[in-house]
Parts: sequence; structure tokens; C-alpha cells
Amino acid sequence: MKRIGLKNMGIGLIMWLIYGSLYAQHDIETRIDKLLSEMSLRQKIGQMNQLNACKPDEKLYQQIRNGEVGSILNAEDPVLLNELQKIAVEESAAGIPLLFARDVIHGFKTIFPIPLGQAASFNPGLVEEGARIAAIETAENGIRWTFAPMMDISRDPRWGRIAESFGEDTYLTEVMGIAMVKGLQGNDLSDPSSVAACAKHFIGYGAVEGGRDYNVSYIPERQLRSVYLPPFEKALKEAGCATVMTSFNANDGIPPSASKFLLTDILREEWGFDGVVVSDWASVSMMVQHGFCENKKDAAQKAVNAGLDMEMVSECYINHMEQLIAEGKVKEETIDRAVRNILRLKMRLGLFEQPYTPLDKKKKAYSESHLQAAKKVAEESFVLLKNQDDLLPLGKNIKKIAVIGPLADAPHDQLGTWVFDGEKEMTRTPLCALKEHYGNQVDIIYEAGLSFSRDTDTGNFSKAVKAAKEADVTLLFIGEESILSGEAHSLASLNLVGAQSELLEKLTETGTPLVTILMAGRPLTIEKEINLSHAVLYAWHPGTMGGPAIVDVLSGNSFPQGKLPVTFPRVTGQIPIYYNHEKIGRPAKKTEMLLNDIPPEAKQSSLGNTSYYLDAGFDPLYPFGYGLSYTTFEYSNLKITRNKLSPSDTLEVNITLKNTGKREGCETVQLYISDLYASVSPVVKQLKAFRKVWLNPGESRQVTFEIPVRDFGLWDINMQYTVEPGAFEVMIGGNSQQGETARFNVN
Ligand code: GLC
Repeated sequence: MKRIGLKNMGIGLIMWLIYGSLYAQHDIETRIDKLLSEMSLRQKIGQMNQLNACKPDEKLYQQIRNGEVGSILNAEDPVLLNELQKIAVEESAAGIPLLFARDVIHGFKTIFPIPLGQAASFNPGLVEEGARIAAIETAENGIRWTFAPMMDISRDPRWGRIAESFGEDTYLTEVMGIAMVKGLQGNDLSDPSSVAACAKHFIGYGAVEGGRDYNVSYIPERQLRSVYLPPFEKALKEAGCATVMTSFNANDGIPPSASKFLLTDILREEWGFDGVVVSDWASVSMMVQHGFCENKKDAAQKAVNAGLDMEMVSECYINHMEQLIAEGKVKEETIDRAVRNILRLKMRLGLFEQPYTPLDKKKKAYSESHLQAAKKVAEESFVLLKNQDDLLPLGKNIKKIAVIGPLADAPHDQLGTWVFDGEKEMTRTPLCALKEHYGNQVDIIYEAGLSFSRDTDTGNFSKAVKAAKEADVTLLFIGEESILSGEAHSLASLNLVGAQSELLEKLTETGTPLVTILMAGRPLTIEKEINLSHAVLYAWHPGTMGGPAIVDVLSGNSFPQGKLPVTFPRVTGQIPIYYNHEKIGRPAKKTEMLLNDIPPEAKQSSLGNTSYYLDAGFDPLYPFGYGLSYTTFEYSNLKITRNKLSPSDTLEVNITLKNTGKREGCETVQLYISDLYASVSPVVKQLKAFRKVWLNPGESRQVTFEIPVRDFGLWDINMQYTVEPGAFEVMIGGNSQQGETARFNVN
């Protein structure tokens, strides 16, 4: 008998897998056809209706029994979920299972750093692992759909939701969004531990005018396609993200929940998306407020005809769709298309086969491996902004530490925004972790000084100052309570709230070295506080294990390696000040006169004739990609293998990185590309790759990047994505403002 070689077996296996998935897909479509043919119009519309079940009542039970509900959000008790599911599956006529949903933005029970902090780790592997853990803890409660990753490009830190984002950069958001989707959905949506992800908010919500939440945005198509859409396209195409959520902001006068251009032309026709598009909370009925719709019936008509499959909580579909069909304003085939997407998702999740949640399994929430994973990504998220005289890591000879500030022992606030199910009782705070770490070797003196970040009562400052006077080092934990960032929490000023800044100033008068650790959901304008501190660590809101992570970094058990995912302004008035802005006609030379350089009675002139602020200078406080380490790194020998390339080639570039300090360290090597001129004004530069490189003291390593030239394209004057011929520049360094450069040509 002819031996079937391994190669043939491999081919056979691949063919079987392909056939199997095609059969499964075909099987699903066939099953959907059959189900649709048996459903009444009302039952179909019911699938498009998502309701909130914070407080389930008889009305909700009856709506489910009538087949008028397709999905439920915010029920999280598995016993309740099974009860509701039993009504849907065993008492409603169509017997279609409910899909339970909940916001799990950075952890379910084990809380990970806020996404802005996770982005600062520049470690997609840890982000994926954290999302996998979040999915396991979520799905074991019966919830199989979550509204994450939030992938809004956030260039305005006045917007409180920057905390939920991966920051201002498109490429970093793409990488982190893909990682989070893969973690949430796992390898197979039908696996009971998988949770359908949701790419949100589609689109441009981070660009609301003034950073004011729910405001409008004006993003032209070219910027939509260059900056805001790519992370969503990648999440759908590369990670198979199952759903998309529309955003609240009307963009150029059109709310995305009723934008045919976005929901049909781009999502379905250009990208081939076959998942579910869900509205944001009441974003359908909100279109009446927008003045875009006359009433809720009009809103239902415009949304469903644009391509919105499921409506979150505002019940315009369930209350008006039958009438709209009767009036010929909506076709039943439009309903069928939406319901097909919803049924496809439920079948891919395996809900028809396994609608109920097993209640007898031991929960994995808060398992040690989950907690350690949360600690690891927290450690890698911290950004060291200053370390004067190498004060950090804390010396071994320290005998007394003063622990001050409203966030030193704030188990609730440390978790950050968008935490529904994480319990503050499980939070390990810095104070607890310091006591555990140092035991009786070091005296820990704790004086909060303020009760919470907005506290203005300075009555306890004297105790804090006394503690600092007696100590070898002061650790000051300040920043923002968790409620000060997140949805609907925009700030017009980014200065520290309450009397935190005054407390810091008082502590500097003691002469004791001061380490300031900031917990916040956004960049803050802290130039004065940084100048007064000897060392500054930005810890974001670090989650359940933030305390042990901070202590390991401060003590030298590990070390800071985070890089800023967002530009830090000096003053709020500099916003927008993101790094990858378009080229302008009169860029600042950075030698121009500033406010106090101008002589009295200065004659009328346009001063420097360039673009900057007289009163805030030329640069941000810290640029995108910035972050220090406990060592230093040197970049040299940037070499491009071939500097004449075609659009179908790959750019290969090498650089040597050396650890020139006395301690081990991990540097995030960043590669930026600039198109020097094009048919439309290109951006000054943009991140196109990064690599974390761990080096021992004195160690050197050659780092090689290989990037398709196709990635350097732009949306040209004809609104086509092209890599235009001409000169390009590559810069490789440790942040977006400094690095080695070289040029190459594309023909
Ligand atoms: C909220 C948020 C959205 C969230 C949804 C459900 O208003 O905008 O991000 O997923 O409602 O809670």
C-alpha cells in the first residue's frame, strides 16, 4: 500500500480544516435560512432589540416570552441569566437564545490597568493575555458578549474616555485592538470561554470638539480613512472581531448610527464585515436630540436602512418597525439581513447548543495566575518621567519611608473607570504592598494628608509634613479618583484637583527626597509638580494588583519600561498637541521670541512668523513614546539595506541598541516613517513599528525591522490609498521626537 507521506497528510489535514469551516459556515447559513423562514416579523424585530436588565421585572420577562428581546445587557448573576434564558428558549415561540452582554473594558473580577495604561506597556502579548483572562472570568458567568476594545483615537485628554482608549496613535491602537480582540474571542467563538468582542466606538468619538463628551466631530473622509478607521478594519479583518458599536458623535452632521456611508458602504461593502452592528446606549433615539430625526419612528427608519442591526435599550425598533414596513419605508429584506447577522453571531457562539451557564464549576476569578498577569502588565505600564540623581530604585539602606497622599491606600479608585464587577476588597494598594514588602526592616509611616483627590481640607498637612521630615524618602501618591475620568467626565483643566499640589509643595519644604507616583486616567498638566519632585512615576489606574507592581518597580525588583501612548501637554491650552499632525506651512524654528522676550511697546510685527504659543513655547511636557528606565540606552548605526524601493518591496532597516547604564533595562525601540511630500499634506511622522528589547548593562544588540513599503501609503488627492513615489525618512529611537534618521526613495 502506497505510504501517504507526511506532506500529503498535512495537505489533507489543511483541506479538511478548510472544508470543515466552510461546511460549518454553510451549515450556519442554511440553519439561518430555515429559522428565518419560520419566524414572524415581530419575532425578527425582537432579535434586533437589546434591553437592560439591571433590575429585571415582569415586563421584561413578558417581553422575552413574547420573543421581543434578542439580547440583554447588565445582568451578571448566572442564576438570573439562566432564568431569563429559560424563558427565551423554553417559553417563547421561536425559542431563540438570548445573548448576554456587559462592559468588560479592562477586566471582569481581576481588574487590569486601564487600557491607556495597558497601551503604555507596548506589549500586545500581555494585553491579549489580560483579555483572555477577562473573557474566562466573564464567560463563566454566562456573559458571552462584551463592548471592548474601545479603539477611539484619543488626541484630547480633556475627554474623560481617553482612559478607555489606547491613546493618540493609530498603529499602536491597531496593535492593541487586535490583541484585545484575540484575547476576548480566543481561537474559536463557540468555545464556552470565548466572548464576542466589540470594536467601538464607530467612528471618531475621540475627536469630539473641545474634548467634551457627546459633542460633535468634524472628521473629513481622508482623516477618517487615515487615522480613525484603520484600527477597526484591522480588528475586523485580522482578529475577526465579531461586532461593532456605533458612536454618539454626529460627524459632519451625520450620526454614525444612521450613516449608510459608514455602516454599509465601508463596513459591509468595502470591508466585507458579516458580524453585528449594535448602537450605543440609546444612540438611536438620541438622533431626535441631534435634530437628525423628527421622532423615534424616523430614527428607527434611518438607522435600520443605514445598516444598524441591533438597537441598545431605546426600543425604537420594537415599537415602530412593523409600522415602517407596513408603510413601505423599510423593506422586510432589510430586517432579514440584520436578523441574519444576529443569528449568525449566536450560532457562532454556540448558544443554540449550549444556552445555559453551568453553575457547578469552580470559578476562576481572582486565581493567582490571573492576579500575577494583572501585576505583570501593570509593571510594564508604568512610565518613569523623572529620576533625578538616580533616586530610584530605592536604596537598600533606607530605614524609614513616609507614605503620603490620597491614592496610597485607595482600593476603589486604584481600579479606574469602567469597573462594574471588580471588588475593591480584592485590591492590593501601594500602602499594603509596601508593608508586605519591607516587613519590619523599614518603618512605613502613613499619613494620607488628604482623604481623596478632590479634598481641599489642608488640616492634616502638618501630620504628613512631620512624617516626611522623619523619613529617608517620601512616596507621594496623587492624581485622580477613578470617577474623574471615563464617560461624561470631561475636564476643562488638567491641573491636579483639590489641594494635592499644595500638599506636594509642603512636602518639598522638608528636604526629604520626594518620589511622586501618579494614578490618573489621562495626562495631567503637572510641570510644576514634576519640577519639585526628585522622581516621578506615572502609574495610570493600575488595577487590582497595582500596589505590588508599584512596589516591585520602586524597590528595584523590576524596573519601569512603559512609554507614553499619548502626548502630555504643558498646559491645557496647547491641546490638540498630538505628535503625528499634518505638516504645516510655517513650523516653529524653536528659536522664536516667547512672551517675556518681547520688549515693551514692541512695534507691530508677526514676531517669529511661525506656529507656536507665546506663553507655552514649542513643545509638549512629554512627547508620545517617551519613558525613562533605570538605565540608559544608545542608538547607533542606523542602516537601510536598500534605499531605492518599489511599493511592493519591503523596507529592511537595522539599528544597534546599547545599554550604556549600570542596570538591566527594557527599551521600546520605535520606528517612525515620514513621507516628505505627497499629493496631499502628509503627517510629519507616524509610528509604523516597535520592538521591546531587554539588555543587560553594557550589552548591545542589532535590531532589525522589515516593513512592507505598502504600509507607508496615504489617501491621496483622489481619495485612493497609494504609496506615492518620492523621498521618505525613517527615524528609530526611544520616543517620537528623538532618534537616528535615514532616507530612502520609493519609485
Ligand atoms: C455607554 C458607552 C458604551 C457602553 C454602552 C453600554 O454609554 O458609551 O461604551 O459599551 O453604553 O454600557
